[in-house]
Amino acid sequence: MQIARRLDVISESITLAVQAQANALKKQGVDVVGFGAGEPDFDTPDPIKEAAIAALRSGKTKYEPTAGTPEARTAIAEKLRRFNRLDYSPEEVLISVGGKHSLYVAFMATLNPGDEVIIPAPYWVSYPEMVKLAGGVPIFVHGKPEHDFKVSPAQLTAAITPRTRMVIINSPSNPGGHTYHPQELAALAKALEGHPQVMVCSDEIYERLLFNGQTTCSWASLNWDVWKDRTITCNCLSKTYAMTGWRIGYTAGPAALIGAMNKLQSQMTSNITSFCMPAIVSALTDPANEVQIQTMRTAFEQRGAHMYKRLNAIDGITCVRPTGAFYCFASIGGLLHKPLGPAGEICRDAIDFSRLLLAKAHVAVVPGNDFGFDDHIRLSFATSLSQIDKGLNRIQAFVAGGGAE
Ligand SMILES: Cc1ncc(COP(=O)(O)O)c(C=O)c1O
Repeated sequence: MQIARRLDVISESITLAVQAQANALKKQGVDVVGFGAGEPDFDTPDPIKEAAIAALRSGKTKYEPTAGTPEARTAIAEKLRRFNRLDYSPEEVLISVGGKHSLYVAFMATLNPGDEVIIPAPYWVSYPEMVKLAGGVPIFVHGKPEHDFKVSPAQLTAAITPRTRMVIINSPSNPGGHTYHPQELAALAKALEGHPQVMVCSDEIYERLLFNGQTTCSWASLNWDVWKDRTITCNCLSKTYAMTGWRIGYTAGPAALIGAMNKLQSQMTSNITSFCMPAIVSALTDPANEVQIQTMRTAFEQRGAHMYKRLNAIDGITCVRPTGAFYCFASIGGLLHKPLGPAGEICRDAIDFSRLLLAKAHVAVVPGNDFGFDDHIRLSFATSLSQIDKGLNRIQAFVAGGGAE
């Protein structure tokens, strides 16, 4: 069977390979502590579930408009106005099959072959791969741990060439756990304003998971007159409402862009699952859901602070304090090229380290290679404090020359 050449440009995810190894060990009955999860360990709030169940019972099982029902698009536009200070109309909103699909349709609708897309690193694994599938060329700009992984206006402008078409901004960030303050975003926006051919894709999916009084804002709200026409605002219900399996994402942008994306989506997936539309309205309008968002945020704040403290107490590991999302992105640079674990094995990079850690200490982490840092690992704290302690005890013992207990 022939496989299309267009797939040659994208790589297999290392994250999934490590996850598969962890699953195989679990199947053999091994007690693996998993820090790989990219999803909240909370359930979807009841009012949202009830809205979908009622819709299903009432026969909402047929095709709907590709971009979403008017009610769902209106609820999103109102949320964007109320919470994000963005003035999109419902017609400037497109609902897609998860944040991932929203981003993919956005790249496919905006990029031409050879267009350069600036991606600050560390970055979410799928950005470069989706950009390449759309014919674009990823250009990486590395944030430094000593600057909490944030890139500066000068770094961004130095990467701009006549072929630059887009910059991707993700605040709070997966995997960095860092968040740009509104003033920091404003400085980046100011630097980009003089480059009118450059648009911004703002991935705001972790916007509600902020810690220690950290604030951020929507990119297009920084200067609506300039940025409305140059921004793709991307969001989803996955992380905020613990709805990763529902697959609900949305984009907002100028009418011409949303029209183009709608045209593309109409030939791919059409609408998202019809009985999920009322669930969107419930998620974004029922105040009862706010209670869970706050419970989840508080839990993540406490767990993140704990994991960060414990990681930094391990010799050879350093970690930037997370201010958003639910990840610690820790440097293991101090542990590479040195004997590790019970057999004194040598690791050259984060992939080696993650494999060895899983095999010998039964802890699953994600190597940073897929995120642009091959001497870092990502640990999700979307798991209980007792699991966090158990996993970190194992990592500590492993680094000190021990194996799994
Ligand atoms: C930064 C970022 N953007 C987009 C997505 C995709 O979200 P969804 O699960 O809604 O497709 C993820 C998922 O992990 C993410 O971390």
